Amino acid sequence: VIYLDNAATSYQKAPGVEEAVLHALKTSGNPGRGAHKSALDAARTVYETREKLAELFHISNPARIAFTSNATMALNTAINGIFFPGDHILTTVCEHNSVLRPLYLLEEQGAEVTYVPADRQGRIAYEEMASAVKANTRAIVITHASNLTGNLTDLKRVSQIARKNGLLLLVDASQSAGAFPIDVEEMGIDILCFTGHKSLLGPQGTGGLYVREGLPVRPLMVGGSGIHSYDRHHPTDMPEALEAGTLNTHGIAGLHAALSYINETGIDTIRRRELALMEQFQDGVRTIPGIHLYGDPDPSHRVGILSLNVEDQDSAVVSDLLWEEFEISTRPGAHCAPRMHEALGTVRQGAVRFSISHFTTESEIAAAIEALREIQAYLQP
Ligand SMILES: Cc1ncc(COP(=O)(O)O)c(C=O)c1O
Repeated sequence: VIYLDNAATSYQKAPGVEEAVLHALKTSGNPGRGAHKSALDAARTVYETREKLAELFHISNPARIAFTSNATMALNTAINGIFFPGDHILTTVCEHNSVLRPLYLLEEQGAEVTYVPADRQGRIAYEEMASAVKANTRAIVITHASNLTGNLTDLKRVSQIARKNGLLLLVDASQSAGAFPIDVEEMGIDILCFTGHKSLLGPQGTGGLYVREGLPVRPLMVGGSGIHSYDRHHPTDMPEALEAGTLNTHGIAGLHAALSYINETGIDTIRRRELALMEQFQDGVRTIPGIHLYGDPDPSHRVGILSLNVEDQDSAVVSDLLWEEFEISTRPGAHCAPRMHEALGTVRQGAVRFSISHFTTESEIAAAIEALREIQAYLQP
């Protein structure tokens, strides 16, 4: 199998993840819910995982990171937790449904949302973002990298617009965390949402959000927190404020191992490797006639994603051939990114998304290029 669907979930996890999950399954108590060894060990693992995330994202206080079960839960927590009816929110057409659908619900409750457009290569119209700011604009909610084109958002530029206008900056780092350097303080990010099972190379069921010091976020859920049990209200201190109920300690233990690997390897090394693979892939694919590429033509402006179509074939047909004839895993269709497909003009055809990891090898990339060459020859009208 050649697995090129890492944007959906990474298949090869970091070394040590499997063992860490198994060890936690065999030994973990409930973190924050007891003073015996297994509960304390679990609490220690959870806290160390916050510290490793803080190191990766340049967060000075690890307690500002709350765990959730995925990016979707983190995004719902953030989006439902900071806005009020009457607020105006800026977002983009590049967003995933995990951003769009919570925003649609807010619109139904009286918030106003502007969807900043993108060009045919999926590049955001930043100047339109700046000019869309109004008196009631509260925030910019934006992806760091599109899950369809892989295009990286110029967060420096977006952050300047946010700062200049006193707006909150909420970033969906689902496709960039673990693949591209993130510095929340330097980038002026107020809330960062991430998922653990993609480029962070951890287990599914892990994710979380960082909330800047002093920014209150209303919780999506309340309940057991392990502290202040006689209080009718859920604690407001981070991280408990946004962590009602028992955490996924087993998954977090896996994420702990994954983060140790990423921090030791170095995010710059991972990025360099992925970029070299993407350049190899894109250069190879460009030599095949009848292939339409999407996204920024410069791979250094993208994460490890390349979406394409072969002639005018339905993306599902191509993705199926890749799997059935070559055992190459890709993702066709809409990718939960409806407005991005509208911007690219690919609503009918969808797109075949190839997404690498730094574990992908040069020979796997070469095999994918050859497979596409054969498929194009077979399908050409
Ligand atoms: C850009 C983006 N945002 C949010 C999500 C949601 O992530 P999860 O499924 O882990 O909640 C994804 C996952 O596909 C994504 O690519």
